[in-house]
Amino acid sequence: MRLIAPSVLSADFGHLAQDLEMINRSEADWLHVDVMDGTFVPNISFGFPLMEPMRKYCTKPLDVHLMIVHPEKYVERFCDAGAWSVGFHLEAVDDPLPILDLIKAKGVRTCLTINPDIDVKRLVPYLDKVDMVLLMSVFAGFGGQKFIPETMDKIRFIKAEIEERGLQTLIEIDGGVNVENAHALFDAGADVLVAGSAVFGAKDPIEVIHKMKITA
Ligand code: DX5
Ligand code: ZN
Repeated sequence: MRLIAPSVLSADFGHLAQDLEMINRSEADWLHVDVMDGTFVPNISFGFPLMEPMRKYCTKPLDVHLMIVHPEKYVERFCDAGAWSVGFHLEAVDDPLPILDLIKAKGVRTCLTINPDIDVKRLVPYLDKVDMVLLMSVFAGFGGQKFIPETMDKIRFIKAEIEERGLQTLIEIDGGVNVENAHALFDAGADVLVAGSAVFGAKDPIEVIHKMKITA
């Protein structure tokens, strides 16, 4: 699969509806929704109040990425608020399984995420228990950072594990994705690419999304 999920973190919140309507017209597949708590990551983004307008104005599925401590307290509310998928960080919790069950019980897709300093092998026991794994290709917390090249080998490693076991688990990559590296990321085995600044910072975001998809 070769999907593009623009990250709303880089949108213009003063004109959110307009930016979302642009995403609706584009070939983007999902809208990536970055929730930061100022504790798990050294930045605060937004929370529940923005789920409502995003659901209202955006016709694309909302791919929620929780960069928060205690995701078990909030995953159900994000499901109820209209998330299409809910992901949280493996390194933020002791045991991800009961939290994945909370999301599954809501009929919402699950995603387990790791920062670049977490051993990718730690995801292996969960590959058959989630719909998607998200490998951060920058440290979670801010848009506009530079892609970490070591991510490429991690994608190949996880892709091989998924294929060997005949699983359907998707691989999502988040951070520093742009038109220049999108092709190589898809070729390495990524299924979903998150792009914030490369899309919303562009003069012609619709064209950027198109190019990311056709480089595929
Ligand atoms: C970073 C977020 C990303 C971010 C990506 O913590 O998880 O989704 O918005 O932004 P860019 O594409 O600008 O690196
Ligand atoms: Zn994200």
